[in-house]
Amino acid sequence: MVIAIDGPAASGKGTLARRIAAHLGRPHLDTGLLYRAVALALLDRGLPLTDSAGAARIAEALDVATLEEDRLRSREIGEAASLVSVHPGVRGALLDLQRRFAAQPGGAVLDGRDIGTVVCPEAEVKIYVTASPEERARRRFRELAGRGEPTTFDDILADILRRDTRDSERSAAPMRPAADARHLDTTSLDADAAFARALDMLPAGVA
Ligand code: CDP
Ligand code: CDP
Repeated sequence: MVIAIDGPAASGKGTLARRIAAHLGRPHLDTGLLYRAVALALLDRGLPLTDSAGAARIAEALDVATLEEDRLRSREIGEAASLVSVHPGVRGALLDLQRRFAAQPGGAVLDGRDIGTVVCPEAEVKIYVTASPEERARRRFRELAGRGEPTTFDDILADILRRDTRDSERSAAPMRPAADARHLDTTSLDADAAFARALDMLPAGVA
């Protein structure tokens, strides 16, 4: 069984995907890390984020061992990931890797922006996670402040709104709910409550 969890930045999709995967004993892939890793590799090589051919080459040779890097979680790399993720060559190069992950025996849980629409349109379960921009900015602010990153709530909110617009308006695999996705608004739900709601969305006998 493949479980596809999509949604905008800091909506809580990663936390939810990790918890569902642990609960079902299935592997989990945070696909945002793939785009973040491509962006980081470009920056480390001194290449501009607009270099679509360079970005696609990096995506084709992506080493999943680099997904552990702490630097991937920074605010700068989140923004850079959104800029490199518009290149169709990057998206195409990452598609196989994501589909192979989803095809593991017993299934998998993947979270991102286009899992239910493009990567795994046949997924048995699709959940589209949302929360208000202000609540998402509060969450991301707490997270980045906890990492010791100097930032302000207003800057994070501006990042989130800009990224929402870019991710949903790009022509290659824009962020949007699949027609058959269940919607989960976590604005007033903590991670435990969101998990409890999501369990109700799994097919009978699975949870
Ligand atoms: O954790 P957060 O939601 O802030 O970001 P992320 O999931 O790590 O994704 C970073 C960026 O990668 C997003 O803003 C998207 O532009 C891009 N992305 C994508 O295009 N498709 C995916 N399946 C996952 C991420
Ligand atoms: O993966 P995504 O960017 O959508 O968000 P996340 O990394 O799952 O969650 C962002 C932050 O919000 C984390 O620090 C979570 O612990 C927190 N969170 C929350 O406060 N309430 C939720 N319902 C889900 C996550």
